[in-house]
Amino acid sequence: MAVTGDAKHEADARPVPMEQTIDIDWQTVDGIIDKYRQNCEALLMILQDISDIYNYIPPQVVPVLTQRLGIKESLLYSVATFYKTISLKPRGKYIVSVCTGTACHVRGAEKILDALQDDLEVDVGQTTPDARFTLESVRCIGCCASGPVITVNQETHGGLDRAGVIETIDAYRETEG
Ligand code: FES
Repeated sequence: MAVTGDAKHEADARPVPMEQTIDIDWQTVDGIIDKYRQNCEALLMILQDISDIYNYIPPQVVPVLTQRLGIKESLLYSVATFYKTISLKPRGKYIVSVCTGTACHVRGAEKILDALQDDLEVDVGQTTPDARFTLESVRCIGCCASGPVITVNQETHGGLDRAGVIETIDAYRETEG
C-alpha cells in the first residue's frame, strides 16, 4: 500500500477509548515487530503492517510497540497521525478513498464523492454503522489518466461515473452476501 505523507486532522490523534478495543492476534503483531528486528526506525512500516490487518492501530498495541521499540508514545502518535494511511480510530472493513487530485477533480471526482456519501450515508472520515465501509478522500494516487479514481483497500477503480461507483460498492456488499 502506498504511503501518503499528508498531515491529518488533529482529531485523529486522540487515542480510541479502551471500550472500543478488539481482540488482537498477538502472535502476528510479535511477528511484525520481529520482522523489522525491533528497529525504531521501522516504526512507520510496523504501523503500516498492523494497519493492513486491522485497518487502524488498536489502542492495546500502542504500549507493546513503545516498549518493544524503546520509543515514546508521543513519537508513535506523531507518526500515526502524520500518515493518512494509518488511523488511530477504528475504520471499516473496506476503506473507500476518493481521489480529489486535480485530474480527478476535473473529471468529476466531486460527483463520485457525492454519490458515495448518498449511497453509504456517511460523510468523509466516517464509517458506516455496520463497520463495513469508511469513506475517505485522498490526493493524487498516480492513475490520473483513469480518473475519476477511487481505491477500495488496495484495489483501484477508474473511469467511474455516479452509477459506476455505486455498482462498484454493491459488488463489495455482495461479496459478503
Ligand atoms: S489526480 Fe486522481 S489519480 Fe491523479
